[in-house]
Amino acid sequence: MTTTLITGANKGLGFETARRLTEAGHTVYIGARDAERGRRAAEELGARFVQLDVTDDASVQAAVKTVEADGGLDVLINNAGIEVRGENNGIPAAADTTADEIRTVFETNVFGVVRVLHAFLPLLQQSGAPVVVNVSSGLASLTTLSDPDSPAHFYQAVSYPTSKTAVNMITVQYAKAFPRMRINAVEPGFTNTDLNGRTGTQTVAEGAEIIVRMAQVGPDGPTGGYLDVNGPLPW
Ligand SMILES: NC(=O)c1ccc[n+]([C@@H]2O[C@H](COP(=O)([O-])OP(=O)(O)OC[C@H]3O[C@@H](n4cnc5c(N)ncnc54)[C@H](OP(=O)(O)O)[C@@H]3O)[C@@H](O)[C@H]2O)c1
Repeated sequence: MTTTLITGANKGLGFETARRLTEAGHTVYIGARDAERGRRAAEELGARFVQLDVTDDASVQAAVKTVEADGGLDVLINNAGIEVRGENNGIPAAADTTADEIRTVFETNVFGVVRVLHAFLPLLQQSGAPVVVNVSSGLASLTTLSDPDSPAHFYQAVSYPTSKTAVNMITVQYAKAFPRMRINAVEPGFTNTDLNGRTGTQTVAEGAEIIVRMAQVGPDGPTGGYLDVNGPLPW
């Protein structure tokens, strides 16, 4: 039996991933910072709920104790994420970007990933086939965003892509440090969720595909990669 924890799983891509992995037979923990939203989502799916705010040490430590008491963890999906948007869902310009905005985004998207990963490492190391999926973004790619011919080149904000580039490096470094684990970064694609004010062009079913696939990767599968549904992406 595979036990899987998904952060930020009360809605969006995390919820859809939880639905699919529950169907596939995983014991799934819906990690959610809000107990009511988390419990409701877990009930709907027949999954478990664990309160988990990725920006809060005490909350993450308590989640480790809960999951440990129930028997441990095999798969960790670092999915919780935020994107700062301006008025009318506008993408903030570089000129308007402040250190506070970057700090806010990093608190969830970067420090949150490290906080959760660090806290759950002892449980993952006890698993026979430990897997970590870090939900990154196509906007993390230095190659893509610096290419004037790329469709993503127009994206002007600083905080969100910078945070996801950091997630990619975190993935590379942890994958080297823990060769027995499969640790990959994935790009779901531009998906219709609250994160982007519902402007995404894909369904959550399409977006969750690569997350679900990499959550089920076997011990001989790739590690230290950055992939979308079609394969490896340029860093
Ligand atoms: N949608 C896209 O086009 C797209 C593309 C590439 C990558 N991604 C990535 O996919 C992941 C999921 O995003 P989504 O599109 O599904 O967005 P979403 O629908 O807004 O879901 C984000 C989830 O993260 C949770 N969250 C935010 N801050 C948290 C915190 N401090 N602690 C715990 N949970 C927290 C939210 O909980 P609340 O309900 O409490 O706010 C929510 O459950 C993110 O990492 C995002 O960057 C999305």
